[in-house]
Amino acid sequence: MQTLKDKVAIVTGAAGGVGRGIALALAHAGARVAIADVEPADGLIAELGDETVLAEICDIRDSAQVNAFVDKVVARFGTVDILVNNAMAGGLVPLSETSDRDIELAMNTGPMATLYFMRACYPHLVGGGRIINLRSGSEVTAVPNFVTYIAAKSAIAGITRAAAREWGRSGITVNAICPFVLSDSAAAEFEKHPGQLDNILTNLSIPRVGDAENDIGRAVVYLAGPDASYVTGTTLSVDGGAAFMA
Ligand SMILES: NC(=O)c1ccc[n+]([C@@H]2O[C@H](COP(=O)([O-])OP(=O)(O)OC[C@H]3O[C@@H](n4cnc5c(N)ncnc54)[C@H](O)[C@@H]3O)[C@@H](O)[C@H]2O)c1
Repeated sequence: MQTLKDKVAIVTGAAGGVGRGIALALAHAGARVAIADVEPADGLIAELGDETVLAEICDIRDSAQVNAFVDKVVARFGTVDILVNNAMAGGLVPLSETSDRDIELAMNTGPMATLYFMRACYPHLVGGGRIINLRSGSEVTAVPNFVTYIAAKSAIAGITRAAAREWGRSGITVNAICPFVLSDSAAAEFEKHPGQLDNILTNLSIPRVGDAENDIGRAVVYLAGPDASYVTGTTLSVDGGAAFMA
């Protein structure tokens, strides 16, 4: 069912991983999708066609690039109806070894970029727009070596709730998703810690990894679509139960 027909969605970090699945699900629900990433998203353009996909190299740490990207999306597709703040960078590091660069990378690609995009998209989202931010179950499980990452994701949690209150009267809903997907970057982290993935899968309520398009992407389509018009400030965990494994 094309519940998002003629809607325009921005998805950050959709050249691969979870973002790619979200972009595919949004496009299959009828939306035109604009992708901001530091990597090219040629595969998505080839799969969906350039009538449906606009992909630009955009470093989301730079507010000038974010503003220019949003202007390009509006020039090409007319507006922005849906914003998915998905991209985030930074590996897992023990707190005592965390460098300034580690902290800046997590904060600048996480909450700072989320704020830049929300601010730039606001005039277009007024009167019915949807924002979906990517959080993480690790905020709850508080696993070691995730401190910088969790700090950035916890800021995004606060942004989600506060913006939901501030922008509700402007007709904008703001929600979040906690995913669990074996993206290339997640797989690379698990390779450094043998046995950790098996341990998670053994303990998960639904013992499998999520599918970027059919699990996470469809949840984004729900939050972006007409059925979720009365849902704001909330977080949907689409992670097989990982967020309450603490
Ligand atoms: N994979 C999981 O299980 C999992 C679990 C919890 C939360 N998340 C969150 O979901 C989101 C996607 O996760 P993923 O595993 O697909 O991540 P990923 O690292 O595989 O993909 C991130 C994307 O962001 C892009 N990116 C990085 N820095 C950028 C920058 N400065 N400007 C523009 N684009 C940039 C990358 O090129 C990449 O395409 C992230 O916010 C992540 O924290 C993922």
